[in-house]
Amino acid sequence: MITSVKEILTKAKKDGYAVGAFNTANLETTQAIIKAANEMHSPVIIQMTEKTMNYTGGRAIFNLIKNVAEFYYPKIPVGIHLDHGKSLEIIQRAADIGFTSVMYDGSRDKYDDNLTATKKVVGFCKKKKISVQAELGSVPYFGEIGTENADWEKYMTNPNQAEEFVKDAGIDALAVAIGNAHGFAKERKTPDYARLEMINKKLNIPLILHGASDWENGKVDEVVERGICCFNVDTAIRLAFINNLANSLKNKSDISFDIRKVLGNAREAVENVVKEKIKLFRSDGKA
Ligand code: G3H
Ligand code: 13P
Ligand code: ZN
Repeated sequence: MITSVKEILTKAKKDGYAVGAFNTANLETTQAIIKAANEMHSPVIIQMTEKTMNYTGGRAIFNLIKNVAEFYYPKIPVGIHLDHGKSLEIIQRAADIGFTSVMYDGSRDKYDDNLTATKKVVGFCKKKKISVQAELGSVPYFGEIGTENADWEKYMTNPNQAEEFVKDAGIDALAVAIGNAHGFAKERKTPDYARLEMINKKLNIPLILHGASDWENGKVDEVVERGICCFNVDTAIRLAFINNLANSLKNKSDISFDIRKVLGNAREAVENVVKEKIKLFRSDGKA
């Protein structure tokens, strides 16, 4: 059943577990994510980035998620979210389509500019009952830090600033930078747990960890204890899909040029990854 992201996050935070927010860009990935969540009896968030909105038009995938969730898997809560919206225009487009949860990402701007733009987005979204996630500090991408040791201080969320930002902007959730990175970029050797703890003490809203594709057991538990209630996962899914596809294409004789066979195998590979992540984040059995 379609459930608001706000409700999914609030429940996870209250009960001390985390959900996965998985990125989709096509039919097979969408089906795999919801099926995996259903089999694990887990709430789940599915999200689209701005690039995916442009690639698919947005509405097609939005309605696909809705149909798959409502018709085939009505028992589990499925939230739909716009990931990394970078302008008011894309947020307005998402609102027109029916999104009730968006991220406005002004993390690359100066503090004041990020705050001003986020406030504008929140002003627009409040009237439409849309919840807003923002990012303070910035979670770097592979293109920014690669596999070298990064100057982490440059990227980290400042707890005092976060307190002020949340109060001023009135956001519903915050993406934090504590040594995490997007893609398979080299992350900080140990996440800054003390910083996260401080952020969590100062804020009373759900905290989101982006770049969770390569997060393992120990780290996951430590940050959930300190307030993270949602992990964003994209790269691990893309990798599973594309690697499987590449293997199928190498062994052409097995696939008899049946598009459903090739994409069906890739879909199964994604489903397995999503199941593993759900177990890792401990949202299994929480639906
Ligand atoms: O953090 C978000 C994504 O991993 C980037 O995805 O290539 O769809 O913008 P994108
Ligand atoms: P990864 O691609 O590292 O999993 O990050 C996903 C993400 O943060 C989406 O917002
Ligand atoms: Zn992200």
